[in-house]
Amino acid sequence: MDSTQPQRPTTDAALFWERYYRARRAWDTHVNPLLAETVAPLSPGTALDLGCGAGGDTVWLAQRGWRVTAVDISTTAVERVRRRARELGLEDRVTAEQHDLAGSFPAGEFDLVSAQYFHTPFPLARVQVLRAAVQALRPGGLLLVVDHGSTAPWSWNQDPGAHHPTPREVAADLDLDPEDWSVLRADTPSRLATATVVDNVLLVQRAAGTVTR
Ligand SMILES: C[S@@+](CC[C@H](N)C(=O)[O-])C[C@H]1O[C@@H](n2cnc3c(N)ncnc32)[C@H](O)[C@@H]1O
Repeated sequence: MDSTQPQRPTTDAALFWERYYRARRAWDTHVNPLLAETVAPLSPGTALDLGCGAGGDTVWLAQRGWRVTAVDISTTAVERVRRRARELGLEDRVTAEQHDLAGSFPAGEFDLVSAQYFHTPFPLARVQVLRAAVQALRPGGLLLVVDHGSTAPWSWNQDPGAHHPTPREVAADLDLDPEDWSVLRADTPSRLATATVVDNVLLVQRAAGTVTR
């Protein structure tokens, strides 16, 4: 699959997310707090924002000196992030690419890969995407996965029995060799949004001496 050319929304998932972002009047451009907390002590490097959506994380990182590749299935979201980066004079630091991560993954190696609430109501082999993400890390690089850990009033799936994979379960799916990878964080903090919600947080680091691809 060509990983650089914009694709028309031909799958149900692409159509859904395209319509979702086209219908949005207001764009939430705030940084996700767990990303901000994780990145605050780090020196800027290269970052990949998986499922960047409105781009709040991408812009926040770029404003702190990171060079960010922002990826989303929605062309509207990607164009919006690109435009916002341009408006803020950050175009040199932001590369926004449309990908259906089910079929293509951006090129490059990164000091940080962030997947914030990378959820979709469509079937997606997320574990394959996250495995590609860890392989795209530079030695010493970090993968931060923040998932919903509880059902919020606004969740698509209101099934009270819905299982939210724990950070340890997500880590187990990645099947990481402990010689080369460390789990720095795997916990489930709560935060107050319009209701109290739980986040499932996984932070993985590639060993500094690991040879990449
Ligand atoms: C729940 S939203 C989270 C957006 C953003 N990370 C945030 O924290 O606000 C999930 C995002 O993943 C994107 N997405 C869903 N399926 C995707 C896929 N197969 N490939 C790339 N992006 C996808 C959606 O377009 C959406 O922007």
